Amino acid sequence: MSTQKPSYVLVTGATGFIGAHVVDNLLARGFSVRGSTRSKAKGDQMKAARPEYASKLDFVVVEDFTKIGVFDSVMDGIDAVIHVASPFFYDTTNNEQELVLPAINGVKSILSASAKQGTQIKRVVITSSFAAVVDVNTTPPKGFTYTAADWNPLTYETSIDPKSDAVVAYRGSKKFAELAAWEFVKDQKTAFDLVTLCPPMVFGPVVHPVPTAEQLNESNAVLWSVAAGVDPLPGARVPAWIDARDLAEAHVQALLIPEAGGKRFIPASPEPFSYELAADIIRGEFDWGKETVTSNYKMGEKSTVSYGVDGETVARELGVKYRPFKETVVDLVGQIKTLV
Ligand SMILES: NC(=O)c1ccc[n+]([C@@H]2O[C@H](COP(=O)([O-])OP(=O)(O)OC[C@H]3O[C@@H](n4cnc5c(N)ncnc54)[C@H](OP(=O)(O)O)[C@@H]3O)[C@@H](O)[C@H]2O)c1
Repeated sequence: MSTQKPSYVLVTGATGFIGAHVVDNLLARGFSVRGSTRSKAKGDQMKAARPEYASKLDFVVVEDFTKIGVFDSVMDGIDAVIHVASPFFYDTTNNEQELVLPAINGVKSILSASAKQGTQIKRVVITSSFAAVVDVNTTPPKGFTYTAADWNPLTYETSIDPKSDAVVAYRGSKKFAELAAWEFVKDQKTAFDLVTLCPPMVFGPVVHPVPTAEQLNESNAVLWSVAAGVDPLPGARVPAWIDARDLAEAHVQALLIPEAGGKRFIPASPEPFSYELAADIIRGEFDWGKETVTSNYKMGEKSTVSYGVDGETVARELGVKYRPFKETVVDLVGQIKTLV
């Protein structure tokens, strides 16, 4: 990557939870941003909510991002890409068609469009996931810390097996999409370099259009379920987390820091995530929470899961400062309470 800063960044998944935070981080730093979305209405809403950036923000509608060629016509003037979009939901009927293939083909589609721009695109940052890192089926030895060198051992066959549940398929979707990205860059010897980010559970206030609490994105819905007293709580996925605003900062730093090129990172707070910690904060900070927060949050805990996650490398190499869990919980829960 050249040391020249990009000026006009394409963000896919810009009307989703994490993508919208990435858009805001870029705008606040003075970059022009083109968001891609499947919904013109959501793009219009995001733009209307940011009148101060009217001349710096535009949206393009890409209805099916899995078809090679769909991004070709939206690259005009773009000199960097942050690819956030990927299916993230567990309410599936066909895991391969709804999760695994769209994730892989979305990556191929954006990378192929980027490669066609010759030297115009300097770097592509992709949102992978800690789901592509963690091996949920083995108990790591005491004191084990996951790093960006780790990959989940899932096979493609298991990921798409109709007997596998959607959580397993999602883990496969992120692993095989990320692998496809690294392979593409290597095989095609692209003019741009690649950075991938593998965050664990992402929580925080929403800055994309969310009309009701029922329409919250998957990870925030997990945290909100503690406040809402859902019983039993969803099976906790992993005991690590990051605030969406810190993750957005990691994406933009990953785009700008020359030395980040060619690397894989895990942005993750040093604080653990557990339902118990979230419940204590909600009860302590919100009077109404004393009534609603479920008292059997341990139902959803995987109490045997205990390992470290190396978020320190991101703090050091990308200069990200992680905010406290309490701030994240209070900001999200306070916001969503106004929607119910
Ligand atoms: N939230 C977490 O805890 C977490 C953790 C690790 C990694 N991630 C990754 O972060 C990224 C964003 O997730 P999120 O939490 O922000 O979820 P989200 O709010 O559901 O956002 C997903 C985004 O992907 C887009 N998308 C999904 N399927 C698509 C398709 N077939 N064609 C085009 N666009 C599609 C959606 O577009 P529309 O806006 O047009 O619907 C949406 O903007 C994903 O890559 C996810 O795997 C999330």
